[in-house]
Amino acid sequence: MFSFKIFTALVLAATVNYVQALSSTLQQLTNFGTNPTNVGMFYYRPTKLANPPPLIVAMHYCSGTAQAYFQGTSLAQLADQHGFIVLYPNAPTAGGCWDVHTDATLTHNAGGDSLGIVSAVRFAIANWGVDAANVFATGTSSGAMMTNVLMGAYPDVFKAGSLYSGVPYACFQGPNAWNSQCSQGQLILTPQQWGDRVRNGYPGFTGTRPKVQFWHGTIDTTLYPQNFWEEIKQWTNVFGVSQTPSTNLSGNPLPNYSRASFGDNVQGILAQGVGHTVPERETDTLEWFGLSNLQPGQGVPSQAPPSGPTTAPATTVPPTVAPPTSTAPPSNGPAAAHWAQCGGTGWTGPTTCVSPFVCTPVSPPFYSQCL
Ligand SMILES: *[C@@H]1O[C@H](CO)[C@@H](O)[C@H](O)[C@H]1NC(C)=O
Ligand SMILES: *[C@@H]1O[C@H](CO)[C@@H](O)[C@H](O)[C@H]1NC(C)=O
Repeated sequence: MFSFKIFTALVLAATVNYVQALSSTLQQLTNFGTNPTNVGMFYYRPTKLANPPPLIVAMHYCSGTAQAYFQGTSLAQLADQHGFIVLYPNAPTAGGCWDVHTDATLTHNAGGDSLGIVSAVRFAIANWGVDAANVFATGTSSGAMMTNVLMGAYPDVFKAGSLYSGVPYACFQGPNAWNSQCSQGQLILTPQQWGDRVRNGYPGFTGTRPKVQFWHGTIDTTLYPQNFWEEIKQWTNVFGVSQTPSTNLSGNPLPNYSRASFGDNVQGILAQGVGHTVPERETDTLEWFGLSNLQPGQGVPSQAPPSGPTTAPATTVPPTVAPPTSTAPPSNGPAAAHWAQCGGTGWTGPTTCVSPFVCTPVSPPFYSQCL
């Protein structure tokens, strides 16, 4: 019994070492071009790159940082595996939220946080040999909102976006950094109105637009789930496809999720019983980006776009957080997962977090999250 425990501990230690064995480290990037709001910029460039390497911009939640997002997602491990580069922007304001509301950030080449982020993308294309045809964006919460901003204002730069628990492009548009009408799901527009907002992000753009995948939980009380349905209206209008899903797979990729596709360019995944935010599924996001089969040394495989649903095999990527050193179950009831809500006004769910995460008041007194 005792020796079994030692054996288990050794296995866990070996797992941790494997997880932490990245080929490279997080680096800071400075002087990368026009950056009117002083967005911070970090990147992870694995030692073995694809040829040419794609680029993924990965954007943190409010109060988050580039470092936290680097550590809290498996994108760096996946970069080692597939050979793409990851940019981790760092929001310049004290609250750590992205500017997703000003006309500048919402408009092509007009300024704001979005222009600083795109300047780093342009720098990476010009200086690192990044494949300009394979640039992607992903993010959670505020980073999800910024993903939609980039999809709308810079459709020429991005090939696809995958966003977790966000709001439609320009839903926060207006004088204030926080838009309660939008966050509470009370900004209801017609598909035409939502589509017009996107088209106004880059007037005259006639090229191919990035395909958009969005994830949302049905009990999200920070960015209410109505935003999922508004996102469907917006992006189906932009792509000129029906608001009725072409396919809707129940139990995909998890038992209480459903994956609704609206043609090949719009996909909405609804997570029943999940709050703010939906846990990220990075390998699923990579599949949406068409990078699942990418290998270091190779270019992005040309793929017949899966017209049907993806099968989304369970992730094979090891967890990015250290497993608990004890295998004993927690004695104080269920703990909330990384990123999950753990407190706030009206909250009746778990108030403790799985190790090593801490229940952090993100928007007191309304919302706390396991960070
Ligand atoms: C897809 O199906 C699920 C389960 O029936 C349903 O809850 C969800 O609303 C559907 N999604 C869309 C976008 O219609
Ligand atoms: C499914 O829904 C439940 C609540 O109904 C939620 O607690 C859980 O996190 C969700 N996800 C999974 C994988 O079960």
